[in-house]
Amino acid sequence: MNVVIFGTGYVGLVTGACLAHSTPHHVTCIDIDSKKIANLDKGIIPIYEPGLEAIVTEGLKSKKLKFTTDASSVINDADCIFIAVGTPPNEDGSADLKYVTAVAAEIGKTLVKNNVTVVVKSTVPIGTCDLVRSVIGLNLTKDVVFSVASNPEFLREGSAVSDFLNPDRIVIGTKEQFATDTLIDLYSSIPTKVLSYDVHTSEMVKYASNAMLATRISFMNEIAKLCDSVNANVSKVAEGMGVDTRIGPKFLSAGLGYGGSCFPKDVLALSRIGKEYNIDTPILSSVHETNESMIDYAVAKIMDQDFEDNECITFNFFGLSFKPNTDDIRESASIKLIEKLASLGCKINVYDPIVKHYTSPNNWNKIKMIHDIHDLVSIPADAFIVGTDLECVRKFNFKEAIITMKSAVIIDTRNMFDYNDAQIAGYRYISIGRPEKEAV
Ligand code: UDX
Repeated sequence: MNVVIFGTGYVGLVTGACLAHSTPHHVTCIDIDSKKIANLDKGIIPIYEPGLEAIVTEGLKSKKLKFTTDASSVINDADCIFIAVGTPPNEDGSADLKYVTAVAAEIGKTLVKNNVTVVVKSTVPIGTCDLVRSVIGLNLTKDVVFSVASNPEFLREGSAVSDFLNPDRIVIGTKEQFATDTLIDLYSSIPTKVLSYDVHTSEMVKYASNAMLATRISFMNEIAKLCDSVNANVSKVAEGMGVDTRIGPKFLSAGLGYGGSCFPKDVLALSRIGKEYNIDTPILSSVHETNESMIDYAVAKIMDQDFEDNECITFNFFGLSFKPNTDDIRESASIKLIEKLASLGCKINVYDPIVKHYTSPNNWNKIKMIHDIHDLVSIPADAFIVGTDLECVRKFNFKEAIITMKSAVIIDTRNMFDYNDAQIAGYRYISIGRPEKEAV
């Protein structure tokens, strides 16, 4: 079948490239950004995502994947049209749907073919598919039969390609049977179960899933604070909890809190939906508040240390991205921590293996990017701080770096290391929710 995808952002591009790669379907991705489309046409992708460039190049070569800015030329060739444009947060936390409705209007104005399924892939408030249906209907120039379906994505940045190709499940929300059939056919070569629901339920599955994962993280961060107070080890607590099959081990890592383009936005958007319907959502509010509190909690721990020269504290800092394996710095807890430390007068030398540029919104000249991890070693600092749990940090030879340090302290806000880890031997090791000890 022919698939058209509006939006070559993270979700649209991964979806398009993976469908072209792993199914027999032909995909055309549309974007209004002509420079981006021209680059994609040459196989140049705008984001860092492992494995994505290779399958984009493969798709271009096989001609199963195409890019265009001209929506009107492809809409009526499509059996299935995905809407995967951005839904940035409004000031009140609700999702801004202007890009979604603009695409819906464009589809409506152009569509003259029957039985096309329009699929909303963007994360949207419950009821958005109904809105898309009415916007398309209002703009139609001819009486055509179409369907609007929900098909949320559960892709994690950094492993989006493998998540798409080996998903835990595919969720679809449909009203018309032909749409259900189209989506089941679309995904038939992907080895997983398709859960078919009504549209609103499908839309809610996405929000509830992300809110649940965020809740687990905030819960463990709350437990971590308690662990600090009672001298218990939150990593062991998570291990002890996670082996219970009713709980499971994933998303129980305490630390600096969650960031990224999804969890913070989706927790607030779901809470906003609650407000709209007069439903109190105290759990969601607490999840958000606990997450926000982790920055100050980490800052207090860091500033509590007895540094040699409290007038001029220097930190060598690892990580800018909101999590490893991505160049995405949206809502990065690491950056929030850096900015806060800079506001307190600290100097920060920061290294990230993927993010190479960072401009402080507060124009702190105290923040300096270091482009080689080994150059960090030559800068005398009061402590190393781990802000993102990067693989290169796990492998970093802290032992060699100890000679140039003003004091041998590692503050690990992601609980990456164990005290007995040889990599950090000789340092005072401080983490979140775990008793402080001298590593041996
Ligand atoms: C998330 C969802 O996992 C994905 O299904 C959805 O489609 C998009 O949002 P993503 O934002 O890429 O994916 O990142 P994820 O791996 O889920 O991590 C989110 C944040 O939580 C990161 O900042 C990470 O560092 C943090 N996290 C994760 C923890 O603090 N502790 C954990 O145990 C797990």
